[in-house]
Amino acid sequence: MKKIILAYSGGLDTSVAIRWFKDRGYDVVACLVDVGQKADFAKAKAKAKKIGASRIYVADAKEEFVEDFIFPALKANAVYESKYFLATALSRPLIAKKLAEVAKKEKAKYVAHGCTGKGNDQVRIEVSLGALAPGLSVIAPLREWELTSRNAEMRYAKAHNIPVEATRKSPYSLDENLWGVSIECGVLENPAAEPPKNAYQITKDPQQAPAKPAYIRVGFEKGVPKTINGKAYKPVDLILQLQKIGAAHGVGRSDMLENRLVGIKSREVYEAPAASILHTAHKELEALVLDRELFHFKEMVALKYSELIYYGLWYSQLKVSLDSFIDSTQKKVTGEVRLKLYKGSCTVVGRKSKFSLYKEALATYSEKDTFDHKAAEGFIKIWGLPYRK
Ligand code: ARG
Repeated sequence: MKKIILAYSGGLDTSVAIRWFKDRGYDVVACLVDVGQKADFAKAKAKAKKIGASRIYVADAKEEFVEDFIFPALKANAVYESKYFLATALSRPLIAKKLAEVAKKEKAKYVAHGCTGKGNDQVRIEVSLGALAPGLSVIAPLREWELTSRNAEMRYAKAHNIPVEATRKSPYSLDENLWGVSIECGVLENPAAEPPKNAYQITKDPQQAPAKPAYIRVGFEKGVPKTINGKAYKPVDLILQLQKIGAAHGVGRSDMLENRLVGIKSREVYEAPAASILHTAHKELEALVLDRELFHFKEMVALKYSELIYYGLWYSQLKVSLDSFIDSTQKKVTGEVRLKLYKGSCTVVGRKSKFSLYKEALATYSEKDTFDHKAAEGFIKIWGLPYRK
């Protein structure tokens, strides 16, 4: 029997896919990757078994997700089109990696995923698989099956005795992990309409957030966040903790009209409290310790790095090379940033580092000033020379 490893989430699409593959003569092995989504894994596992998967792998990939995917993106300041912290996009190469690992273990030649034919995720998963395990053949049932609507899938599920949870029925399409939630479809497809309150899944409505701001300090070592208010946290716990504080203050929402890789524009709403806090803090610390030219050049690299993640090029030489550049810039990104979280905003109110390049004696307008004001004259003369000619 042909064996296929299916990236399984427990949701409708991939549950239906188990049966669909079985009907086509495949031995289906389900692979559920835990990247921090809120899901009942035991229930999902039982469901896959009931539908007919011969084996189910549940991979706890949270730590790997944070250390090998989220932190490199953070060090790079990678934010797609200035608004999207790439939560979904970062998880895809990791899911592909897990699929390839299970395929190797199971000696399977086929892998499958539940991505649609017009999204970015199919590209990210397949390009990643191509780089990691070029011998595998990928099948994307949603691109080929006759079940072209949610209703058609529901009917198929009913007809084949596949359990469908009515409780998790949401008018939106959600993708969730440790780094954030992506929300699309339903009324959000009208880009002129404000997202309804129920679109947001994890953050408090800023209007309803506490009237008293929360102050927090985030400590970094070589560009990697390590502490909150002076207390050390393990990577996953640090993110969960910031998610909690940020969400309570309505931090990290964004309403975006984005350019998809497949050529269309789409409207998506994001919630990423921890990502929002960490990106704000990290960039601020860089502002303190990196010299001007490096800081500016790194902004260009950030743009490229965000595209690379969005476009599914995680397993590329470009990524490896940019990482070595970025890591070389992080040697002095050690210190602490103080932030104020207040009704949806996250603002920096203080920063310090033993590697600070800020010199009060040079910056001050008081009598302690040591800046050579006279020298500015010559500097301006030469700097402005081309424009006087
Ligand atoms: N637009 C985002 C991306 O391409 C998220 C895609 C998944 N969104 C969702 N609501 N299922 O990375």
